[in-house]
Amino acid sequence: MSESTKNQPDNLPPLTASADLANAESLAHACARQLVALRAQLADGRFLREKIYSIDHSRFLGSTYRYLVDVELESKEQARKRLVEHVPAIGLSEKYASSPSGVYAGKLIDGLAHRLPRRVCTLYELPQDTPAHTSVQRCLLEGEQAIGRSLVAKIPFAWFCAKLRGYCRFVDFIPPRFDHAQTRALLANMHDLSMNKARTRFPEVWDTARGWLVLDSRGVEFGYRLVEQLIAAGELQQGHRFVDIGSGIGTVVNCVAVACEAQVCGVELHEGLHRFARRESKRLVEHGVLQPSSIQWICGDAFQPATVDLSHFHCLYVYSPLWPAQFDLDPIVARMMPGSLLISAQLPVENLGLVRLEPSLAGMFAMRKKHNLTGEK
Ligand SMILES: C[S@@+](CC[C@H](N)C(=O)[O-])C[C@H]1O[C@@H](n2cnc3c(N)ncnc32)[C@H](O)[C@@H]1O
Repeated sequence: MSESTKNQPDNLPPLTASADLANAESLAHACARQLVALRAQLADGRFLREKIYSIDHSRFLGSTYRYLVDVELESKEQARKRLVEHVPAIGLSEKYASSPSGVYAGKLIDGLAHRLPRRVCTLYELPQDTPAHTSVQRCLLEGEQAIGRSLVAKIPFAWFCAKLRGYCRFVDFIPPRFDHAQTRALLANMHDLSMNKARTRFPEVWDTARGWLVLDSRGVEFGYRLVEQLIAAGELQQGHRFVDIGSGIGTVVNCVAVACEAQVCGVELHEGLHRFARRESKRLVEHGVLQPSSIQWICGDAFQPATVDLSHFHCLYVYSPLWPAQFDLDPIVARMMPGSLLISAQLPVENLGLVRLEPSLAGMFAMRKKHNLTGEK
């Protein structure tokens, strides 16, 4: 057994190798396997909804187009019981339960149950053109999917994964790699945490009056939709380079980096946000879902050519809620490589003639820089 004392759940006694622990080795491995299986369950919104958040206060708000999905834990104790059902190895032998790794596993479950938010809600709104006779059914169905995604993002999944890694290291168990759903859950939870922290730590990024530094993000759902559509369109192949200009806490960059083989770069002016983004990708590397060599972070003003060479990228993404004060696309288009693709919520003004509009991607404009700037239509 390794004697790592790093990555322990908070407030735990130090882990030390002992004879007890050696006897409990096979139980410790069984426990590790069950905890890894629980990791998969926690990434599944249906599991959380059905087994953990079973009290339902959901209701329509004002019309059959607005549905507040609002769910609650029965109690933390009940949630803990439900979680322990998935890790029966903890209770199989008193000797194991009192061994360091058994104590660790028990505390891991306690810590998880303790950190679960008591109540989670999400407002689900249908588009106004939805036929009225289908609105109730659609709200119920799609609202259920929405709360599933929300629960996955709100529970302490990133915390659990980090502590589980510590447990696995301690009992010399190599955990299987994250599957697609777990990677997505990890990103969603990290995004949620970083967004909340950024809001409190950097109030200046919310100052719309200043008009040049505003953080907003369309989140992991959007990031995945964008990257899936880019891959389907053949825009993110191995060797391609993607840049997010104004990458904020790094959500889009990280989504692209874990989902494809392209080289990915985020350029961010705000130093604090830049640090958040780097830290997230470092965690993704630690969890084995990201190759460090595939990602680059630059802190600086993307409008200064010395900060980043935009002619280097095949695919460029820009999203800002403050157009055009924050981002004027014209200088960006001017610096792009011919044939590269720009995805943005706005169009350039003066340099519109330099690009050809393509079918939109993830609800954003997609435009390709023309090769022959004089002749090409
Ligand atoms: C709306 S956020 C977008 C975050 C991220 N791209 C996303 O979609 O999740 C815009 C970001 O652009 C950054 N920004 C503003 N001006 C910039 C500049 N000149 N160079 C680099 N980043 C800039 C802001 O600090 C902010 O974090």
